[in-house]
Amino acid sequence: VRMILMGPPGAGKGTQAPKIKDKYCACHLATGDMLRAQVTKKTALGREAKKIMDAGGLVSDEIMVNMIKNELDNNAECKNGFILDGFPRTVTQAEKLDGMLVDSGKPLQHAVELQIDDALLVARITGRLVHPASGRSYHKIFNPPKDDMKDDITGEPLIQRSDDNADTLKKRLVTYHQQTSPVVAYYQKTGIWKPIDASQEPGQVWKSLLKVFSDDD
Ligand code: AP5
Ligand code: ZN
Repeated sequence: VRMILMGPPGAGKGTQAPKIKDKYCACHLATGDMLRAQVTKKTALGREAKKIMDAGGLVSDEIMVNMIKNELDNNAECKNGFILDGFPRTVTQAEKLDGMLVDSGKPLQHAVELQIDDALLVARITGRLVHPASGRSYHKIFNPPKDDMKDDITGEPLIQRSDDNADTLKKRLVTYHQQTSPVVAYYQKTGIWKPIDASQEPGQVWKSLLKVFSDDD
């Protein structure tokens, strides 16, 4: 499969993407996770990115496009396809992605938009717990880990993201509506745009995704 998952912070991109990855043996490229890996490693990019992420802004298009291009070209997991989560986030990123994929003769098949009202996102974001190494996410109430504050698979500790507070969320939502909504409009014009109601419980969202894929086989 070759697809992108769009939607505001907390829509469920990181919750659904691993399930798609398992179904298709594709790679799951989450640009937010990649940036957080840089933050953990304390690279120059990581230090710069942390400031931007904690302010709810966007890292430059050039850096993000190169990051994705590098993965698509070199990550062996992407041979069977890819799920892009959190990219493209600007129209420039979308245009560059299209350019890359046209060059490779493998265009996008689905641009899925996880649709949900902003009002529902505060509870999702402030209750989220993540396993930094894998990007797996849980929720204190909606999807609690089996063991308090520990990852189900590795048993390693779960953390809260530094941008997961109500204040930063407000800024992330402003950024989403200003810079990423035009990306949704961009794909609406292409015929591969597929909206899904992301306010449903996770199992229902997954069923809606399976319907999107059912046209493929
Ligand atoms: P990123 O990591 O992409 O963050 P985001 O887009 O804000 O999205 P989230 O990860 O917050 O939400 P999600 O949709 O994955 O939700 P999840 O499934 O975890 O980016 C972070 C930052 O990096 C950006 O702000 C920017 O600064 C920078 N960046 C990244 N990409 C960039 C780019 N391309 N260009 C420039 N800058 C970039 O779910 C959330 C919670 O809700 C979880 O606790 C989950 O358990 C729960 N949940 C999920 N689904 C449901 C459901 N159906 N019902 C109830 N609870 C649910
Ligand atoms: Zn995410």
